[in-house]
Amino acid sequence: MNKHPFGIIIVIALSVLSLGAASRALAADCSATIQADDALRFNLEHIDIPGTCKDFTVTLNHTGRLAKAAMGHNWVLVKAEDAAGVARTSMIAGAPHNYIDPDDKRVIAHTGLIGRGESTSVTFAAKQLDPGVTYVFLCTFAGHSPLMQGTVSIKP
Ligand code: CO
Repeated sequence: MNKHPFGIIIVIALSVLSLGAASRALAADCSATIQADDALRFNLEHIDIPGTCKDFTVTLNHTGRLAKAAMGHNWVLVKAEDAAGVARTSMIAGAPHNYIDPDDKRVIAHTGLIGRGESTSVTFAAKQLDPGVTYVFLCTFAGHSPLMQGTVSIKP
C-alpha cells in the first residue's frame, strides 16, 4: 500500500525530466553557432537545418583580434548557384553597405558585419528553403568568400 504513491511520484519526476530534455533538444536543433577568426576561417564547413524547423537562427562570433574595417565577417545564405554573383554585388556595395547589396534578392538571409569580439545573429524562415537545393553560406567582406564558405542542407 505505501509503495504505490511513492512509485507515482517517481514516474511524475521522470516525466518532468524527460519533457525538459525534449524541449531543450528541439530548441538546439533550430539554431547553430559559428565562429570566424583573423585567418579567414569559419569553424564549420557545413550546417544541417532540420526540416521540422519553422525558423532557424545562426549566431556568428568573431573570435579574432582585428577590427571590422580590416577583418569584417558576416554570414550570408544563398543558393549555391548564386554564391559567385552575390559575392560580386556585395563587393560593389562595399563598406558603406556592410558588403550587402540591399537590392540583391538572391540574398536569402544575412547577419550584420562584425569585428573582433563581436557577435551577431540572424533568424530566417527555414520553411522557405527547399530540401532539393544546395545552399551555401559565405562571408561577403571584400575578398573573403573564396575561403570563407560552407554548405547548408535541409534534412528531410
Ligand atoms: Co570575412
